[in-house]
Amino acid sequence: MKKLLKIALLSSLPLLMFSCYYDEFPEVVEQEDVVIPPETIVSFADDIAPIFATYNCTQCHNTSGQNPDLTAGNAYASLLSGYVTPENSTSSKLYIQLADNGHRNVDANSIALIKKWIDDGAENN
Ligand code: HEC
Repeated sequence: MKKLLKIALLSSLPLLMFSCYYDEFPEVVEQEDVVIPPETIVSFADDIAPIFATYNCTQCHNTSGQNPDLTAGNAYASLLSGYVTPENSTSSKLYIQLADNGHRNVDANSIALIKKWIDDGAENN
């Protein structure tokens, strides 16, 4: 019985270490790997807003919740009131929060789309 316990403890050790490793070092988003062709026109309605739906951003970012309000119909105005600086993704809170802070682990392709949309002028297109 004692021996069994030892085996159980020993075999769970790597598992414990592995889970700690993941807690300490969350996966880094390698968005450099994603290239959106320069001629591509990124649409707010068709490309950006659906990202907020996919990741359930509105669970927290809604009209009575956390700013920016990312609900359909409100997202654009809310983002442009301080979270997105047109033509300057690297100084835009939306981009910094997702690309640098790893907020909600958004996939590299979505982050690249957001970057291009902002750098192309953040239009309500
Ligand atoms: C579980 C709740 C939750 C979800 C889901 C969530 N957020 Fe947030 N978000 C927060 C909180 C809390 C803050 C404020 C604290 C902080 O900056 O982390 C925040 C802050 C932000 C900010 C402002 C950062 C700043 O510098 O002021 C942006 C932009 C943002 N979130 C975008 C998003 C997007 C886009 C999604 C979906 C991909 C998302 N959030 C999903 C809770 C959430």
